[in-house]
Amino acid sequence: MKDAAPQTIYLSDYTPFGWTVESVHLTFRLAPTATRVISKIRFTPTPNAPKQAFFLHGEALTPIRCTIDGQQITPTFTDTGLTCDVPDTAFDWEAEVEISPATNTALEGLYMSNGMYCTQCEAEGFRKITFYPDRPDVMATFTVRIEGAEPVLLSNGNPIAQGDGWAEWHDPWPKPAYLFALVAGDLINHPDRFTTQSGRDVELNIWVRPGDQDKCAFGMEALKKSMKWDEDVYGREYDLDIFNIVAVDDFNMGAMENKGLNVFNSSCVLASPDTSTDLNFERIEAIIAHEYFHNWTGNRITCRDWFQLCLKEGLTVYRDSQFTADMRSEPVKRISDVIQLRARQFREDNGPLAHPVRPESFVEINNFYTATVYEKGAELIGMLKTLVGDDAYYKALDLYFTRHDGDAATIEDWLKVFEDATGRDLTQFKRWYSQAGTPRLSVSEAFTDGTYTVTFRQDTPPTPGQDVKDPRVIPIAVGLLNPNGDEVLPTTILEMTEVEQSFTFEGLATRPVPSILRGFSAPVILHRDSTNEERAFLLAHDTDPFNKWEAGRALARDGLIRMIRNGDAPDTSYLDSLTAVVRDDTLDPAFRALALGLPSQDDLAQTLFDMGNTPDPQAIWQALETLKQATAQHMQDLLPRIYAQYQVDGEYAPDAAQSGARALANAALGLLTRLDGGAQAQKQYDAADNMTQQLAAFACLLSAGNGDAATADFYDQWKHDRLVIDKWFTMQIVQADPDQAAAITRTLTAHPDFSMKNPNRFRATLGALAMNPAGFHHASGAGYAVLADWLIQLDPLNPQTTARMCSSFETWKRYDPDRQALIATQLDRILAQPGLSRDTREMVDRIRK
Ligand code: PHE
Ligand code: ZN
Repeated sequence: MKDAAPQTIYLSDYTPFGWTVESVHLTFRLAPTATRVISKIRFTPTPNAPKQAFFLHGEALTPIRCTIDGQQITPTFTDTGLTCDVPDTAFDWEAEVEISPATNTALEGLYMSNGMYCTQCEAEGFRKITFYPDRPDVMATFTVRIEGAEPVLLSNGNPIAQGDGWAEWHDPWPKPAYLFALVAGDLINHPDRFTTQSGRDVELNIWVRPGDQDKCAFGMEALKKSMKWDEDVYGREYDLDIFNIVAVDDFNMGAMENKGLNVFNSSCVLASPDTSTDLNFERIEAIIAHEYFHNWTGNRITCRDWFQLCLKEGLTVYRDSQFTADMRSEPVKRISDVIQLRARQFREDNGPLAHPVRPESFVEINNFYTATVYEKGAELIGMLKTLVGDDAYYKALDLYFTRHDGDAATIEDWLKVFEDATGRDLTQFKRWYSQAGTPRLSVSEAFTDGTYTVTFRQDTPPTPGQDVKDPRVIPIAVGLLNPNGDEVLPTTILEMTEVEQSFTFEGLATRPVPSILRGFSAPVILHRDSTNEERAFLLAHDTDPFNKWEAGRALARDGLIRMIRNGDAPDTSYLDSLTAVVRDDTLDPAFRALALGLPSQDDLAQTLFDMGNTPDPQAIWQALETLKQATAQHMQDLLPRIYAQYQVDGEYAPDAAQSGARALANAALGLLTRLDGGAQAQKQYDAADNMTQQLAAFACLLSAGNGDAATADFYDQWKHDRLVIDKWFTMQIVQADPDQAAAITRTLTAHPDFSMKNPNRFRATLGALAMNPAGFHHASGAGYAVLADWLIQLDPLNPQTTARMCSSFETWKRYDPDRQALIATQLDRILAQPGLSRDTREMVDRIRK
């Protein structure tokens, strides 16, 4: 087979499929290397559809037979599917194909994981199961018969019949093929029930491998809370008799919202205090909610084509963040989300992979499950809500659900609902979906005769393929404080629509201190010439928790930049302000823990680059080390008090209160370790009775260079638990001295527990290296080389995970010519691999440009 030039798909080329699929009947005869799939599909020509040849997708299928209305036919097969002549009227298609799940290492389509069969069809995996119009706008009801020796046989919808070695399922809700799922294995369930608001009794199950059954209770509670929350907040009720969740060890992503049968990466559902950290618990709760919420935003209303991915993902991320804010702390959730947004999405928007929230072309759709589509997509929903107000938002959502239930919809449909519900023109807002790049918002101010004027200017730097940017509508939440710290203007939304725009506030007795972009009301980079006195004032007095935190962050960043650029010493006034926050027991401990966090190495590198400097990863790392050491010394009297005071007694609970206390105490421990060499951390490690405490102490010991005994002990204690061993791999690399990080990574890839076939383990190792930026960007190039070596090895097995991990290289143009040359060498080496996957080629091509 020759390497066909990869084809670019364009949004503007969208045409509907020429046939309607009335129903799909599938029979699976499971066998590891020779599974038979028999499909019976009723096709009806769609009146007035554009004329087209009949084409069904199909990849890596061995056709056994194809018939139309019972007559054997001989289609023309290509690499991507088949074509054949079909009648002008409705007809019955039948095909039998053979596939080999046991050798499917790409984990797309039907594959095996630890002896269990499972599927992953989003985005285009169903075509690896049988011939089908594998596009999200083709929706049909599915009836599935599974024949196999496995004790548990699951598919979408409701069970209709079962016997020895077989089971039948029927899903009454029409769905696109990407939501199809099948699971078969020796599984144990954790059962429960939920009664919906209208009285429907729903059976709930979490299915796991034997041995994992004690790690399901938390996920089940999260599921029930999610079901209740979606009823209470969005009026959305569950719509089948049964809801199944299955945990799978080998999975490319976090989880998948298949109708009635969510499949989860086991790391995103299995939870127990011994093996999961507080952050794991919070993430598991959020992902369970996310997949559950997709039942309405994704499944009942799906996407017309994959360019509309943000329609379901942006909205569902927004919904899960609302849920987490309601279950836990709204400010803490917002601050954490913004940290992630800046770390992942701003980074993407600033580099060669920048793309609009709704892209207009792609080669491989799997490469567009990005922070931009997901997290920036969610920010757009948040901005819409801010602009129209809460009541109008929920009114628009009600209209969306009634108008589009059962549809494969578009961003145009979504915005039209808001226009119709609110009477607002969203033409300008739509630019947020079509323009890539993060707007820079600069601020200038004037005060005369009691009138305060604030002037904003927006600029978005060019991104690949988009040189010119039009002004966007930006909701800017502003509050004003007077110099004694009282709020004189509570949070007010300023709506910016021009390139440059001024807003005035009259009748002020004194020049106010503005608190701008409260709650991070828009995903922009704010440039404001502020003094450190003013930042310290806002850190002490701002009533908006996000901006209070942001003021501390700006102070820290400013001090670090001056340390790096000018060789300054750590700023003692910053340390004084921070100490005051940490000491203030009226503040939420979780907030104080966040305030103790510093801008990341990556954040500082981008900041320096934006200032016209070439970032030196080693110098950035060194400045952070120096500042942490100075912080520890500055707070040496306070730290033992904080550490002791926020120890949690009594039974472990992964709730916001306990995890906030642990986060603060462990932040204190990190600093204390710099003073005592790890004595306290060793005590905590030895006494720990939950993973949060154990892992935090382990990290401290490693960072102090004192981790050898704990490394051996941790492995010994947890070698039976794959998810904990992932942490063991990651922690050694993340906490490594930058000079050692690449070598430690290479050593760990030779460990008997390292495996390329398990994406979690691969990411825990090679993904961890990029989380040690000074190690990854080491001047020797050893970090680049070890990552490239392993990406080259993984690509033939698992293109999707390989391609995603190429983004570790996406910031390369920030660095000096020597580093750029080292990276270019690795990128070119990857591109030169014969048979390189389309996924990886697209990513490396875009990065290399
Ligand atoms: N749709 C999934 C989610 O966001 C993510 C996913 C994409 C999973 C592609 C697998 C494959 O919930
Ligand atoms: Zn999703």
